[in-house]
Amino acid sequence: TCSAAKEKTVVIGLAADSGCGKSTFMRRLTNVFGGAAEPPKGGNPDSNTLISDMTTVICLDDYHSLDRTGRKKEGVTALDPKANNFDLMYEQVKAIKEGIAVDKPIYNHVSGLLDPPELIKPPKILVIEGLHPMYDQRVRDLLDFSIYLDISDDVKFAWKIQRDMAERGHSLESIKASIRARKPDFDAYIDPQKQYADAVIEVLPTQLIPGDNEGKVLRVRLIMKEGVKYFNPVYLFDEGSSISWIPCGRKLTCSYPGIKFSYGPDTYFGHEVSVLEMDGQFDRLDELIYVESHLSNISTKFYGEVTQQMLKLSDFPGSNNGTGLFQTIVGLKIRDLYEQLIAAKAAASLQATKA
Ligand code: ADP
Ligand code: G6P
Repeated sequence: TCSAAKEKTVVIGLAADSGCGKSTFMRRLTNVFGGAAEPPKGGNPDSNTLISDMTTVICLDDYHSLDRTGRKKEGVTALDPKANNFDLMYEQVKAIKEGIAVDKPIYNHVSGLLDPPELIKPPKILVIEGLHPMYDQRVRDLLDFSIYLDISDDVKFAWKIQRDMAERGHSLESIKASIRARKPDFDAYIDPQKQYADAVIEVLPTQLIPGDNEGKVLRVRLIMKEGVKYFNPVYLFDEGSSISWIPCGRKLTCSYPGIKFSYGPDTYFGHEVSVLEMDGQFDRLDELIYVESHLSNISTKFYGEVTQQMLKLSDFPGSNNGTGLFQTIVGLKIRDLYEQLIAAKAAASLQATKA
């Protein structure tokens, strides 16, 4: 008989503060799965959901239990768990994971109100992105893989200034004040989630330019937990060794301040991890193939796939540095994890039909 066991949805969590590059990362990820993600057709134009053939990305702001006026009245920020409905988040993510469609609320970022819900059908891969994907243990336990985007204060500040001053006309003082106001809740409720992440992308100011805090040249670290099923950390040259590599020279064009890679074992919140680091930026993206050819376990399907992805999305923020490179690699690792999970399930159901 053809008793295909119901394919369960694979669930990925992506945590970060807002304005830290989550949507850019999601666009890179959905591209790895071969399709641009779009808002649901015919629904609320203010929907925060992105759907493609393989993936559905939902924004956890939709589980705000208090709308903008409610938060103001209670004196809480959107970062505060009190402003979020974790019971509903858990129930709905669990249902989707089991193959059941749900009516998910919509938080309208323009009006600050909760709009009527939208129907979310179980996709092959569900990504839950937002402030709290790993905050509630019940939700955390549903995740097949989790990522934390850790943007250091200096860099966050530089990005916010760039966006809010240049594009939204805010003053330097008001940007500083809003970052300061968010900080206590960020430290209490968002930042601690990184200890649970299977992969962390840490974004720091460069160490190649002494005293630099412009936030233009970045040092980016990809921290990968050891021992996670279906996830084999990437390595440089020799797995488990500590390596420092300056690829600039005959095969890679580098202008000031150059590029430096590092790789090695470390510990992170008591877990064994591997860390791959890139400081600096690429002058010529097509030469990335030289770097790619020295990395192992990057889960590509053909030689040069990382470079091809980076070239294809070269207009995305971070394409010339470690943020784009590591987001692309994490995307490939998630595709690999998904394929292994599906293969394992198929094998298990075949066993079950034989028994
Ligand atoms: P989020 O979805 O977390 O709010 P976005 O992906 O929309 O964040 O990015 C917010 C802003 O941050 C972008 O407009 C851009 O200015 C900046 N940004 C994001 N990622 C990067 C990056 N890798 N390098 C430089 N700037 C970035
Ligand atoms: C965070 C949340 C948003 C919220 C924003 C501003 O960035 O992710 O959902 O809209 O804070 O909050 P406010 O209370 O000013 O509307």
